[in-house]
Amino acid sequence: MPVVVDPDQVKVAELLKALPPGSHAMDTFERLETWLDQRDEEYAVVLGPNLSLDAALTLSDQMRTQRPTIGVVLIRQAVDTDVLTRAMHAGVREVVSDGDMAAIGAALDRAHEVWIALRGSAPAPTLGKVLTVFSPKGGVGKTTVSVNLALALAADASRKVCLVDMDLAFGDVAITLQLFPTHSIEHLIGSESTLDFGLVHSMLTPHESGLMVLAAPSLPDARDRVTGALVTRVIKALQEHFDYIVVDSAPTFDEQTLTALDGTDECVIVATLDVPTLKNVRVALDTLDMLSIALDHRHLLLNRADDQVGLGADKVESILGMEVAARMVTSMEIAAATNAGQPIVVSSPDHESSKVIRALATRLTGEVLDHDASSTAGSRRFRIRR
Ligand SMILES: Nc1ncnc2c1ncn2[C@@H]1O[C@H](COP(=O)(O)OP(=O)(O)O)[C@@H](O)[C@H]1O
Ligand SMILES: [Mg+2]
Repeated sequence: MPVVVDPDQVKVAELLKALPPGSHAMDTFERLETWLDQRDEEYAVVLGPNLSLDAALTLSDQMRTQRPTIGVVLIRQAVDTDVLTRAMHAGVREVVSDGDMAAIGAALDRAHEVWIALRGSAPAPTLGKVLTVFSPKGGVGKTTVSVNLALALAADASRKVCLVDMDLAFGDVAITLQLFPTHSIEHLIGSESTLDFGLVHSMLTPHESGLMVLAAPSLPDARDRVTGALVTRVIKALQEHFDYIVVDSAPTFDEQTLTALDGTDECVIVATLDVPTLKNVRVALDTLDMLSIALDHRHLLLNRADDQVGLGADKVESILGMEVAARMVTSMEIAAATNAGQPIVVSSPDHESSKVIRALATRLTGEVLDHDASSTAGSRRFRIRR
């Protein structure tokens, strides 16, 4: 897919209209780099007219050697010999005049042809799916949902599932699962460029269910040393090995959370039925829109969605402008199960909330999770049917 880079939102919107559906937009080169690190299907980068020529050419020059399969298409207000010569030297594939949508389309078609030819017939590696659970509010149930979702998926031993605690300062995934990790993402700090799956694997803590966990640092101050680049590399390495990577997140748009969200395949947004939370979720959705994050891949989960509070699902849908994908009521059993270290999908697979979680998992992954009530074998009491 093509990726557009331009700091001007209006220009981006205009360009996206002319580009194939599924094209993405980035406002900075940093975000472009992160994005390209995580994707294999991008074949062209369109550099918009509001980028400085020098910056655009420097990027093109780097891409020529680092990402030679991706064609750079440069859009300029004025195309003269000087621009063309410099662009050619920097490895720009095509220079197009701003507003000439037909020429941009043709340039992208050619970039696609080159990309297919260069890629050859090597099969694309199958990467695990990243499922991120996010909310701008704390205490709304992100960790509860992440942990149960991961356990529901891991219930079938044939699925390799990793749960990543990206609430780096106050993460409580490990304690929720009664794990005592000796290693965490903290031990990967500084290994951005050398990191591979073997290294990440040695930082994981196994749970008795078969689920693997990448724990948050034990002390909050380590958060600031976990860079966006590290988050990207870690998730990418995990994708090479696991079928599903469930990411629990912090209730902020910090660099690490944004990076994880940027690379996510599906995003579960958790909200509760109170006006301050809904307001914050609304603002967060606008931010996700602006950054083109998980468009068409967002799933709203209403937690503590009890009827008594006065705000119905229809009201929420109209406030947030998205349909409710799942509803979980307040239940002491959910909290008690978590406190006992046996989250609800494991301790009570027949509980209504366990069914909600499995239905959500099906929606996110396309897999049907079959609960086999007749079997009582420990934590493997339900199966996923492919
Ligand atoms: N539907 C629910 N019913 C009862 N308790 C819940 C429910 N969802 C979450 N909780 C409890 O609320 C608290 C906060 O949930 P948690 O998942 O840690 O939120 P977050 O990760 O968003 O901060 C936990 O004690 C959890 O057990
Ligand atoms: Mg949490």
